[in-house]
Amino acid sequence: MTVHFIGAGPGAPDLLTLRGRDLIAACPVCLYAGSLVPEEVLSHCPEGARIVNTAPMALDDIIAEIHQAHREGKDVARLHSGDVSVWSAMGEQLRRLRQLSIPFTITPGVPSFAAAAATLGNELTLPGVAQSVVLTRTPGRASAMPVGESLANFARTGATLAIHLSIHNLAQVVADLTPHYGADCPVAVVWRASWPDERVIRGRLADIESAMDAGMNRTALILVGPALASDDFEESRLYSFDYDRRFRPQSAASPFADTSGGES
Ligand SMILES: C[S@@+](CC[C@H](N)C(=O)[O-])C[C@H]1O[C@@H](n2cnc3c(N)ncnc32)[C@H](O)[C@@H]1O
Repeated sequence: MTVHFIGAGPGAPDLLTLRGRDLIAACPVCLYAGSLVPEEVLSHCPEGARIVNTAPMALDDIIAEIHQAHREGKDVARLHSGDVSVWSAMGEQLRRLRQLSIPFTITPGVPSFAAAAATLGNELTLPGVAQSVVLTRTPGRASAMPVGESLANFARTGATLAIHLSIHNLAQVVADLTPHYGADCPVAVVWRASWPDERVIRGRLADIESAMDAGMNRTALILVGPALASDDFEESRLYSFDYDRRFRPQSAASPFADTSGGES
């Protein structure tokens, strides 16, 4: 018996890996985080599967479900939205499973920041503009931020910020970031990326708050940084016609001419 943690993607039911789909189809028990995992994903469950929405449950009850499946020798598909490596509460479940010696696997999913970037039609890292993406959030009712992980600290790097779980804190986000990025810095809010009713608001730190609609609460990402609206960036060396590299040696003298050459 194995518990399969599966990233169920940002919302569109076809933004699920083939491995995730096949595991769901093979498991007689499915526990899903119903606040964000779309119902359509559950259509991959086999007929007669036990399907449980864990949104209203406590951790002890979720582990009790898994323990019961373990006793019955039934594999479990455990679905969380987006990718399971961020803000999924998977860590505390893995710790319990290790204590109980219950085996598990992890199948990644499409994270919401990637779906939001796709909706925007943007690459979040541009040569000479931004080469890092910070996945972060602001403090919530149940989650304080560790010392040092402030928006101001991340903002000092100039990286592209993908701010989760924070749409209700937009005013504070703007106040914290404006001294570092400037009022003219591009911002995009993507609400329910990849859902049929997804919405996008683009603006600048100076005006993003006034551009928002009241209905765009909860499932939204705030993306901030110069890469979001820059056409002024260098082309990458990777595809440059004269760049000597492993897959395109420029001459017989190139260190890459020999196929056993170094990494580029
Ligand atoms: C509990 S976290 C889950 C993150 C998820 N594990 C991931 O990989 O994106 C929920 C937050 O992720 C963001 N989010 C999740 N799905 C989203 C979507 N389809 N569109 C925009 N933001 C989304 C929102 O910021 C939301 O508050």
